[in-house]
Amino acid sequence: MKIPEQVIQKILSARSLVFFTGAGISAESGIPIFRGKDGIWNKLKPEELANFSAFLRNPDLVWEWYNHRKQIIHESKPNAAHYAIARMQEYFNEVIVVTQNIDNLHRRAGSKIIYELHGNIERNYCVKCRTFYNEELAFEGKAPVCKCGGLIRPDVVWFGEYLPQDQFTASEEAANNCDVFFIVGTSAVVYPAASLVYTARKSGAFLIEVNIEETEISRNVNESLIGKAGEILPQIVEAVMNKQGR
Ligand code: APR
Repeated sequence: MKIPEQVIQKILSARSLVFFTGAGISAESGIPIFRGKDGIWNKLKPEELANFSAFLRNPDLVWEWYNHRKQIIHESKPNAAHYAIARMQEYFNEVIVVTQNIDNLHRRAGSKIIYELHGNIERNYCVKCRTFYNEELAFEGKAPVCKCGGLIRPDVVWFGEYLPQDQFTASEEAANNCDVFFIVGTSAVVYPAASLVYTARKSGAFLIEVNIEETEISRNVNESLIGKAGEILPQIVEAVMNKQGR
């Protein structure tokens, strides 16, 4: 796809870039997305796997599912989209990643400023004493238990739970102060994360969506680039580098 000249000019004149990402940016790394034709929620029920009462009802089942996802993530690698965002750090003062993903791929690709709105699958904590267990926890079919006797859970945000306040506050500030706000690989239907799109819009940022299809927010952005993130983001970096004579 040819990146529109207006998009390149907006990016070149920007001081601060924010990349708001969802499961779609990790799809080309082999990590399943949640909605749409092959989405996880077509086969599994979030109310059985991704909320606290489901966890208390059946901690072993929930752990089995997260352990399975962790294995997929450990076998995956960042893709060209993650690396393109990390590369932008060489050309711009401020490149902030605000991700809904829990897969750690932005960090592994070299991004430095990352706000994790929905937690991180590599971290775990005890529901009773809140001791963190971030080393690899052996899982033999039973949910791990803390030394205090409490159940250990993944440090991810489940449906109906609050987002980590510090991460969300920092993300709102980033959305308020950026010049260009990219929305990459998200259906933008889960709140309050999706509200950041409107925060950025209200602040006057230039909104660029990158998705393989139209979404709920496509009509609210300045530019909707339809295609794979792993193809479009490297093309944007390429175009920026050429203009900067690099
Ligand atoms: N490149 C760009 N976009 C893609 C690609 C790709 N290669 N593949 C899929 N997409 C798009 C899909 O079209 C869809 O719009 O990525 C989006 C993925 O949407 P969801 O599966 O809904 O994922 P996400 O938006 O991250 O979900 C938000 O919901 O279940 C919760 O906590 C979970 O963080 C997640 C939240």
